[in-house]
Amino acid sequence: PMKQRLLVVANRLPVSAVRRGEDSWSLDISAGGLVSALLGVRDVDAKWIGWAGVNVPDEVGQRALTKALAEKRCIPVFLDEEIVHQYYNGYCNNILWPLFHYLGLPQEDRLATTRSFQSQFDAYKRANQMFADVVNQHYEEGDVVWCHDYHLMFLPKCLKDFNSRMKVGWFLHTPFPSSEIHRTLPSRSELLKSVLAADLVGERLLPLWETDLSIELQPSCSLMVIHSFHTYDYARHFVSACTRILGLEGTPEGVEDQGKLTRVAAFPIGIDSDRFKRALELPAVKVHINELTQRFAGRKVMLGVDRLDMIKGIPQKILAFEKFLEENSEWRDKVVLLQIAVPTRTDVPEYQKLTSQVHEIVGRINGRFGTLTAVPIHHLDRSLDFHALCALYAVTDVALVTSLRDGMNLVSYEFVACQGAKKGVLILSEFAGAAQSLGAGALLVNPWNVTEVANSIAYALEMPADEREKRHRHNYAHVTTHTAQDWAETFVSELNDTVVEAQLRT
Ligand code: UDP
Ligand code: G6P
Repeated sequence: PMKQRLLVVANRLPVSAVRRGEDSWSLDISAGGLVSALLGVRDVDAKWIGWAGVNVPDEVGQRALTKALAEKRCIPVFLDEEIVHQYYNGYCNNILWPLFHYLGLPQEDRLATTRSFQSQFDAYKRANQMFADVVNQHYEEGDVVWCHDYHLMFLPKCLKDFNSRMKVGWFLHTPFPSSEIHRTLPSRSELLKSVLAADLVGERLLPLWETDLSIELQPSCSLMVIHSFHTYDYARHFVSACTRILGLEGTPEGVEDQGKLTRVAAFPIGIDSDRFKRALELPAVKVHINELTQRFAGRKVMLGVDRLDMIKGIPQKILAFEKFLEENSEWRDKVVLLQIAVPTRTDVPEYQKLTSQVHEIVGRINGRFGTLTAVPIHHLDRSLDFHALCALYAVTDVALVTSLRDGMNLVSYEFVACQGAKKGVLILSEFAGAAQSLGAGALLVNPWNVTEVANSIAYALEMPADEREKRHRHNYAHVTTHTAQDWAETFVSELNDTVVEAQLRT
């Protein structure tokens, strides 16, 4: 059978570009769970549309980059500095990202935020239209267009306005928060409506607390958008935001709007676990594993791998580790915490503040518990290449994932995939999507409860081998059977089914 053609649209391309000369570029793999998951998807004929992470104002540069990216099956969307500032740094990462992770709207300098809000939202819509224009240029009849994440909530509407027959799906990689949180967002309704890709035809007054707006809805159309989420809770939150904020009807299948059903479903993401297992067999990785084992001989290795983001609970994790050292003096020279903190979104002030906050805490604790020859925390402000990361996962005794909220958290999956030999312990925040799939094998914690996390560290380090093995088996079975490949296949086939169903209904 012919392979399904897929246009994957995400703000971040799987490769980021670095300029080497007027018309030469080098490409690096981008960091983050979205990219990792999509890299694990094979056997579809996919092209990627997105931003390469750089500003390219000149035509020579744009042409050269377009050519370099084409070899990776990537198509660039060029965003200028002003758009990046307002859309990416502003609306996406200063407003939507913290809100969707329950950190609320920006508090500081509230007046300035309120004033810049509208212009950032306008830039967000403009940017989404720029993505749509590139999709439209490359779309061929029969393609499935798969839009990703909170950056592109306007895209389904833009695409449908252009061509109502396009098959469009949207996947959110973050949590979708309770409707009470979404309700605080000034553009709450417009954003939901665009995601539902509704045209404006009729008019309906809203029954609930939305008195400032009347919404016009369209009776039926041939296109449905599948919205998909990592967990059932996020899907449920989305449906209740649509019922409460837009006054639509929620059904077990999704959201119903005058006969037109928008399917809402949960499709938990996974990783390409074989890719990790294969990496561990490579001679270079084995050498690396040996080096690390010798380097940390006599000490247990604890590992954190996160983008340096406030949602990851890095300060909370480090404070819990401090409490553990405080209360378990016998462990002080027998354990080390390796924290990989990948720099991310460095132009957003909140991220800059977090960097200095984390450095300060790490410095204080290393000063307090370090010796002339060893420190308890190795904190790295940089990314690692794939093989180095695999080696680290493999030598780890206890992995610590303390996200305050996290869509899924693939680091926890990757750790499990690399622990076939060691069978180490995963300490996992109950607020990560992964808690729903790895809950039986991991030690679940509330990252805000420093005492609980410190106690779990002690428990994990002393866990008997048979309990470790049993817990590992649970997690390993899940991670190796719920792969990125299955996730993408399920999504695409559901999307195709939904479109057929929609055609039968009309
Ligand atoms: N990662 C990376 N470079 C690094 C460290 C990690 O690309 O130096 C990857 C890691 O392998 C994982 C992803 O970044 O696949 C993080 O995904 P996760 O879902 O845990 O969190 P996100 O960053 O998407 O919030
Ligand atoms: C999360 C988001 C992704 C994003 C990634 C890295 O995983 O869900 O959409 O690509 O973080 O963040 P960045 O801003 O660098 O793309």
